[in-house]
Amino acid sequence: MIFPLKLINSIIQFKDYHFLNFNILKTTTIAMNNSKLNGKVILLTGGAGFIGSHILEVLLEKECIVHIIDSLKTGPIENIPEHPNVHLHVGSVLDFNFLQSIKYIRFDMIFHLASVVGMKLALKHKNLTYETATQGTKNVLSIFKNIPAVLFSSSSVYGLTTRGACKENDIASDEELLEFDGGETGYSYGKKKMEEIGLAEASKGRKVLIIRPFNIVGTKQLHKFGMVVPRFIKQATENNKIQIYDDGKQVRSFSEVHTFLYCLFKIVENDAAWKNGENIFNIGYPRGCSINELAAAVINETNSEASIEHIPYDAVFPNHTDVKYRVPNTAHGEKYYGTIKWPTINDIIRQILISEKIQVPCKVNL
Ligand SMILES: NC(=O)c1ccc[n+]([C@@H]2O[C@H](COP(=O)([O-])OP(=O)(O)OC[C@H]3O[C@@H](n4cnc5c(N)ncnc54)[C@H](O)[C@@H]3O)[C@@H](O)[C@H]2O)c1
Repeated sequence: MIFPLKLINSIIQFKDYHFLNFNILKTTTIAMNNSKLNGKVILLTGGAGFIGSHILEVLLEKECIVHIIDSLKTGPIENIPEHPNVHLHVGSVLDFNFLQSIKYIRFDMIFHLASVVGMKLALKHKNLTYETATQGTKNVLSIFKNIPAVLFSSSSVYGLTTRGACKENDIASDEELLEFDGGETGYSYGKKKMEEIGLAEASKGRKVLIIRPFNIVGTKQLHKFGMVVPRFIKQATENNKIQIYDDGKQVRSFSEVHTFLYCLFKIVENDAAWKNGENIFNIGYPRGCSINELAAAVINETNSEASIEHIPYDAVFPNHTDVKYRVPNTAHGEKYYGTIKWPTINDIIRQILISEKIQVPCKVNL
């Protein structure tokens, strides 16, 4: 029997679903030899979240004992493995008494990631977002006194800057960030204040690192809080419309999570990086990708028939202005981690499809 071309396509596409034979991205090996962190006792706040759970994996490779503080608000408990070196303390960094209850543990280092993350959540809960960044950080730093702390800030401290690749000194003013947050204290302003809290401690002699991640993406990032890469992958694989807010010409740096970790640990493990005045780092792919390019890459890698829909930004985020261009200048960090070959957005999408076992239809070239 002869089938018309279109029908053959649909038979193959819908009956012969299988995993495409992608080449799995080699995850960057994070140097184990002579690691200063080997066997240390670590406090990891936000450890159930996307980046935190990846940090946990690295720390376990280094045979650290890891105490996690997480409210489990956006980080699923499934991200925390049952492991003799992992201790989970469920609660909020805003709860002083709760933090006091583990004050007796002698930590060697703090990785502080607990935060309200994602535009939708942060705009919906501005005050909680701000308080978590500021009071939450004060609580952690004051209860676990003098312990070296790696504080997770954000590229959002650059506000609406379009002056090209952001250098660490290009941080936006308080007024710009308040306006960027929609006229009230929120995520970006909170992260700037969090940095100031950390830097004040550093000026008194404490070891503090400030890390500004730029759109970290990869496996375990959840779509349900609106993160753009998992959201597009979900829409594409369900053949729904891919919804792009605004014209899609906004440019971001999509930075693969394992490569991010490689850079992070190169910094954390180098004493010189902690020196006051040197201790703020952008980490991210120093090359931009527009949201339109991202959507096209997702459609291509998932062989999706989804169409693209542009939605006015104001309809999704009223009273908020989107950033047109946000890409890091990474010259400062490169002194510690060298020149990095970051995976492309297509590499990253393939890696997510494989590691999360997302089925995509086979490409048919008749
Ligand atoms: N993912 C990115 O691209 C990105 C970019 C810039 C900055 N960051 C920063 O990196 C950190 C981790 O981000 P992520 O993408 O893994 O987000 P995430 O939402 O996956 O992780 C945040 C974790 O913090 C926990 N948490 C929230 N409020 C808490 C509280 N009051 N007490 C204790 N735990 C609480 C959540 O349950 C979650 O597990 C955050 O500080 C974020 O601001 C991330």
